[in-house]
Amino acid sequence: MDKPTELPILPVPPAQPGALTPPRCVELNLARLNQLGMVTHDGGRTPVAEDFRIIKRPLLRNARGDNDTPPIRHGNLIIVTSALPGEGKTYCAVNLAMSIAMEMDITVLLVDADVARPSVLRVLGLPPEPGLMDILLRDKTALSDVILRTNVSTLSILPAGRANKHTTELLASRSMSSLLKEIAERYADRIVIFDSPPLLLTTEASVLAAQMGQIVLVVESERTTQHDVKEALRRIEHCPNVSLIYNKSKAFPAGEYYGYYD
Ligand SMILES: Nc1ncnc2c1ncn2[C@@H]1O[C@H](COP(=O)(O)OP(=O)(O)OP(=O)(O)O)[C@@H](O)[C@H]1O
Ligand SMILES: [Mg+2]
Repeated sequence: MDKPTELPILPVPPAQPGALTPPRCVELNLARLNQLGMVTHDGGRTPVAEDFRIIKRPLLRNARGDNDTPPIRHGNLIIVTSALPGEGKTYCAVNLAMSIAMEMDITVLLVDADVARPSVLRVLGLPPEPGLMDILLRDKTALSDVILRTNVSTLSILPAGRANKHTTELLASRSMSSLLKEIAERYADRIVIFDSPPLLLTTEASVLAAQMGQIVLVVESERTTQHDVKEALRRIEHCPNVSLIYNKSKAFPAGEYYGYYD
């Protein structure tokens, strides 16, 4: 028998500019999230899961329409905001995203738009990653480079990315508007949930909110004053679809939903 021919070792060709990089995948520790009381796929019908099941229904109806009503414009872009820090924006954004990702036929993109104080990845038990800010700062970073797929196949995450001293300007910039347009059009079939900074301490939350189809305003029970709620609503008064979550209420299970503001 002839000696086997030795195949030459070929050098790996350099990546072609513009070649598609496969999306990065991160592993969410669902058991940990479940222990922390968050909504998860196999976490069962907990009170929190039930609350978010009720909260998501009208939002999904607005985003997708139903037999009687057409979808609202950009209804798939939903920002979760509040008047003040610590009211539960991130908690509600993450749980809402998880809950919607549990629907059979819907995929969700969870965006951390609280770029000055990002916390979506931390809450999910993940280290910081490049994201939104990197796209806005660098021409070469594309949306597809920084979106993280997760072990929940219907849930992807766009992290906040690197903190930057021009955060406010970048979030209010024209590049951000065109990025939002790109997200709305490219992911028209997805629900995109944005976690955001508080409305009364920053200007970027209201600038962002103006570009969304739907706004969820979290109101912390027994803490947010009527004055603060009114002032927060005033800052988003140009947005037609606002719903409220009455959060951390002792009278109801966590995240009780109480209706619409038009
Ligand atoms: N319904 C709830 N039940 C139990 N804990 C909650 C609830 N909502 C929020 N929390 C807790 O309250 C704290 C503040 O919530 P969270 O970080 O979501 O607020 P935030 O509005 O995003 O704050 P920031 O403005 O600082 O980003 C967190 O520890 C969160 O886990
Ligand atoms: Mg937050």
